[in-house]
Amino acid sequence: MRILFLGDVLGRSGREAVAARLPGLRSDLRIDLAVVNAENASHGFGLAPEMARALFAAGADVITLGNHAWDRKEIIPYIAETPRLLRPLNFPPGTPGNGSVLVTLPDGRKALVLQAMGRLYMDPLDCPFRGTSELLSRYRLGASVQAIVADCHAEASSEKMAYAHGFDGQMSFVVGTHTHCPTADAQILPGGTAFQSDAGMCGDYDSVIGMAKDGATLRFWRKMPGEKLGPAEGEATVCGVYVETDDVSGLARRIEPLRLGGRLAQAMPSV
Ligand SMILES: [Fe+2]
Ligand SMILES: [Fe+2]
Repeated sequence: MRILFLGDVLGRSGREAVAARLPGLRSDLRIDLAVVNAENASHGFGLAPEMARALFAAGADVITLGNHAWDRKEIIPYIAETPRLLRPLNFPPGTPGNGSVLVTLPDGRKALVLQAMGRLYMDPLDCPFRGTSELLSRYRLGASVQAIVADCHAEASSEKMAYAHGFDGQMSFVVGTHTHCPTADAQILPGGTAFQSDAGMCGDYDSVIGMAKDGATLRFWRKMPGEKLGPAEGEATVCGVYVETDDVSGLARRIEPLRLGGRLAQAMPSV
């Protein structure tokens, strides 16, 4: 299975870049499953339903959120009726929406997509490790599902690495989100799980993690309430990770980073 994951879509610049690039990426890389993190799509904070619809229309099969899941309140009724829009699975019981979805591809293959949120330097949620383990106990990679993809939304690389190693061999692909900086550690772990500790964002990198730099830098110089933060509006780099899996084992064969457009050094998987 050919899987493309795109990191946090940030503001208008990120939305426009993904809408422009994703259809071409899907066909050029012959993508079977595209997953897009869009927790920052709405001016940096949350995701409005019409933006989710536009991302689905551009070719996202599944959209994930994160700590900004509820910044746009309109998402609450929308997520309840949209199974392919995920929030982290370790929110407290009773939280609207789902933390995972089983996707059936047009050719009948099945992929489980899930999101878990870390707890280091983040809100104290339920345990992401135990929550994921409980979910995985209901599926068998290479038997009931051909691929399992996890978005591990966390601040600390250590927690994301521990998460990936903890499920090495039980998932096809673990990718980190939330820091908005793509890491250079794409690898296939010893048990066969593809891993990159952060996918990076789809946003303007002439910024402080996607937000306009003037206001964002002032907050560090002066420890006072700063100006309202808004997204940087230059051309976005579409950042993501490409993974190819073996349908029989469900494990990864190949992982390559993708960086397209904007300011970052470009990287395109060879197909
Ligand atoms: Fe984010
Ligand atoms: Fe986040």
